[in-house]
Parts: sequence; C-alpha cells; structure tokens
Amino acid sequence: MNKTAERTSVGELQELLAAGLPVTVVDVRSLADLDWAIPGSVHVDAYDDLKAGHLGPLAELKLPRGPVVTVCGMGHTAAIATDLLRARGVDASTLEGGMQAWSLAWNAAELTVDGCEVVQVRRTGKGCLSYIVASRGEALVIDASVDPDVYVRLLEQRRLRLVGVLDTHIHADHLSRSKLLADREGVDLWLPAQRPTHFPFRAVADGARIPFGDAELIALHSPGHTAESTTYLLDNVAAFTGDTLFLTGVGRPDLEGGDTHDVATRARRLHASIRRLLELPAGVLILPGHVSDPVRFDGRPLATQVGTVRDSVSLTRLNQEAFVEAVLTRIPPTPPNHAKIVELNERGELPDDPTELEAGANRCAIA
Ligand SMILES: [Fe+2]
Repeated sequence: MNKTAERTSVGELQELLAAGLPVTVVDVRSLADLDWAIPGSVHVDAYDDLKAGHLGPLAELKLPRGPVVTVCGMGHTAAIATDLLRARGVDASTLEGGMQAWSLAWNAAELTVDGCEVVQVRRTGKGCLSYIVASRGEALVIDASVDPDVYVRLLEQRRLRLVGVLDTHIHADHLSRSKLLADREGVDLWLPAQRPTHFPFRAVADGARIPFGDAELIALHSPGHTAESTTYLLDNVAAFTGDTLFLTGVGRPDLEGGDTHDVATRARRLHASIRRLLELPAGVLILPGHVSDPVRFDGRPLATQVGTVRDSVSLTRLNQEAFVEAVLTRIPPTPPNHAKIVELNERGELPDDPTELEAGANRCAIA
C-alpha cells in the first residue's frame, strides 16, 4: 500500500490483513448500522461528530504505530475522519467504497482431506464459504461467490485444471458466480435438479457422481432449506453441506415463502436431511456454505466433524416436532433483497455492481 495514499482499496486492505501486517481499521459507523464489521476493527461512535466536522471520541483514541484505515458505510464519513486524522499527523486513509465495497473482500484457508486438496474461499463480510476441491491436478469449484478471477488465479497458482463448477442450491443471500465461472472456463455447470433455473445446466440427482482426478463427489439430496438443496460427499470423508447444516446451527426453511404450514413442512424435511447427514461417520468433516460471523484473516479452515455437531448443536438432537417448533420460533429477520437475488440466480444474471443487492450481514443460520 502507498503509505501516503488517502484511500485504500478493498484489495489493498485485504492483502494487508492476509499478510498479518500492522494496520488499524477504525470503523466510524453509527451503532445502529453496525450489523457486521471487519475482523479486528475498532469501532468508535464518532459518526455525528464527524458529520459536524470534528473528531469527537476519535480524538481520544490511542492508535498504535502503523497505518490507519477508516471505514464507514460508503466511504464518505470515513473520508472526513481521514482528513482530520491526517491533519494531526496520523497515517490515515479511507477504505474506498466503505463496507458496501468490503462485501466483496475474501480470504482463503487450505486443508487436505483424504489426499484431496481443499481451498476454502471465504467472503469475509457475508460469511459465504466456497470451495476448490482437487485431486491429481483436477479441480471442482463449489458455490462460487466471489469474482471468477479469484478462482482462476487460485487454480493457476496451484497448477490445477478446472473440470466443473457446482452449486449446492439456488442461493438467496448472494449472487452465485458459478455460471459465470463455468462459462468463462468452458466447463460443466452442475446444479441440483430443479425447474426454476432458466439456463442450461447438468442436473444433479440424488446419488449422482461427479468425478475429478482420482476422486469423486457423490450428491446427497438434502431438502429443507430449499427443495433442491444438495450435499456433496467427498469419498465419505467430507461433506459440503451448503446451507443445510452449519458448524453451529442449521439452515432456515422460510426463504422459499409460503405460510407457516409450508415453512413447517420444509422444516420437517430439513430435520430428516440433517438426521441423514448426522448418520455419517463421526469423523466426516462438515464444510458448510456459510458462517454467521465475519471470517477472520487467520488462514484457519472453518470446518467441524459430524461427531462434534451431534454433541454440540442441540437443535440436531430434537425429535421432529420439537425441531420444527424450535426452528419456527428462532427464524432470524429475512435478509434484504432475497427474492430479487433468487430471481437473478435462476436467470443466471449478475448485475455490474452486485454489492448493493448483497449488502448486509449473513442471516442464513438458525442456532
Ligand atoms: Fe441458502
């Protein structure tokens, strides 16, 4: 990063954090807007003071050595903070585009599962987890949620050849980049069998096998979150569970709409799907489609074992009716724009700037 720049791009801040370099991120949004944050950032409630042209509580903040990056919703108020801090000699710059632009920031973590290389690509703000899974030089991408360039670069760095792209379901919280990636690289796009999708794809039915290198993914239809939701099993050692089962919770069954009866019916299906997943051997690794909190830049994979979920996620131990009741009473607020996002995903369209539609924290899980 250019130390004298008054602006820092999302990519520059992402690189600083991923490299563990010293940088203090100062978030100046008002408390009411603080539904998600950059990991490690310091919040100072100075929004109204800055709007009035002074630092307010920011003047008291003890800042460590090293650059400071200020952030707000879109970058305007943070720019006032930057100007005032720089006037005091602080090496401050503004995160360009603010939290809306930060929505696209990502980081990665790697693990090896039964000889297969797995790269977990995490959209830090939204908590969307996507995967590159590779065997003997051939790779699949699951649930692409960041720019196709990111996956192409990660594949090139690892000398991997992309042979297919898959989604676990029709997403409602982010715009899928899977079609774009598959089209760009000229490989098959595999989606769970369903009717709403308006473009050609290879339909995945329960039990379908998707080969790559020496390995294969086996599709396990796991409805409930959505009708078509599918888990991909990797040689019975790992399960890419999409939004059916998370590390500490289960998927929400309400986003396909309908009345309480419809949602309860989907919750029953979700219960059955989760039961099926938890019958897998205790050591099988759960690799979900989301986490609820912003993903840290620590390179640590977000994964857990079937046995741990069985022991620690109390919802999964309830009988069917108790589960339905618990899920229905704990459904979080509906994410903004979800109907529009589903519609665009069904049409396979991606707006030039997806960040406005995708704004906000992730609300996929029920715990
Ligand atoms: Fe979802």
